[in-house]
Amino acid sequence: MSTDPQRPLAFGTLAIHAGQEPDPTTGAVMPPIYQTSTYRQPALGEHLGYEYARVQNPTREALERNLAGLEGGTHGIAFASGLSAIEAVLKTLSAGDHVVSEENTYGGTNRMFNRVLSRLGIQFTFVDSRDPDQVRDAMRPETRLLHVETPTNPMMRLCDLRAMADIAHEADALLMVDNTFSTPFNQRPLEFGADIVVHSTTKYLNGHSDVIGGALIVNDDDLAEELFFVRKSTGAVPGPMDAWLVLRGAKTLHLRMQAHNQNGLAVARFLQEHPAGEAVHYPGLESHPQHDLAVRQMTGFTGMVSVELGSGDRARRFVEGTRLFALAESLGGVESLIGVPALMTHASVAPERREAMGVTDGLVRLSVGIEDIGDLIEDLKGALAGL
Ligand SMILES: Cc1ncc(COP(=O)(O)O)c(C=O)c1O
Repeated sequence: MSTDPQRPLAFGTLAIHAGQEPDPTTGAVMPPIYQTSTYRQPALGEHLGYEYARVQNPTREALERNLAGLEGGTHGIAFASGLSAIEAVLKTLSAGDHVVSEENTYGGTNRMFNRVLSRLGIQFTFVDSRDPDQVRDAMRPETRLLHVETPTNPMMRLCDLRAMADIAHEADALLMVDNTFSTPFNQRPLEFGADIVVHSTTKYLNGHSDVIGGALIVNDDDLAEELFFVRKSTGAVPGPMDAWLVLRGAKTLHLRMQAHNQNGLAVARFLQEHPAGEAVHYPGLESHPQHDLAVRQMTGFTGMVSVELGSGDRARRFVEGTRLFALAESLGGVESLIGVPALMTHASVAPERREAMGVTDGLVRLSVGIEDIGDLIEDLKGALAGL
């Protein structure tokens, strides 16, 4: 869709219209699911822009244009999962290259870096990116990439995106930001100087817990070309049906995120006041040590909340005691989920590293959905009463 530079479209309009044109064959308002692996070519050496679906698929391209519009980028590149999106960026590097990464990322990202890619000769240094000096000190002449997540999973730590971009660029490296927790509704890293935004679209962007997917968004043509090349050459594409589902989810992102932000804040406040909670991690609370930074670079604080209950036994009884909050991995769907990161999403992180970051056996992570907030609070009250 063309946009008048004099009057940029608002986020809610972009969510529905960015990159969407009626189908050229029928005028269908929703992009068809082009469920095909290949395309008939009119003559040898000629094609209509589509040769083979690992390389081109119109449904996937509709999703990619939409996500690029939401993040304020010029190119979206969709993947089969969030991890394969991150992996594609790392596959632009070579053996001997060095990556600086936030230590408190999603556990699967940490496992891929530590146990898969390091075997191929890529070197990693893990840092606490709340402290820009620590990040700067970790940069080396062979550092090609700085990877951060903000807020982090599950400690809800933040890093200053502008400072991270400056540090990366001073060292001639790229800044990649995992924006899965925030979504572009709450935070747009490219506007702070990031080079690559990554999403597990499995989470808020799709929003209905029925797809595994990932995406990269960039605003540099050469970088986009390199990433498209890696995807074409290694193959981690999403199927057309999954691309279509994520696009359908993205069209209501603004409405869902408003509700997630409201419910997340209400649950964080409730847990903070409840005597069972020893500490509540939520950037929207004034007590969060980086609340000022949160207000500067985010416009909302999501539905992700972590609470420390003091012991593994209390955490187990809490997550087994809720009725509406389902005990499950993942996050970002319309329904509320609850889990213990040390035993679930972050089980693959070494125990001593987990402890050092505060990912204790007593830490419970909630993905607050968009159900009625009164019902959610009652559910939590009931489960906490049993501790
Ligand atoms: C912040 C974050 N990034 C990346 C991933 C990986 O995404 P996927 O499960 O789609 O591969 C996850 C998964 O939980 C996540 O929470």
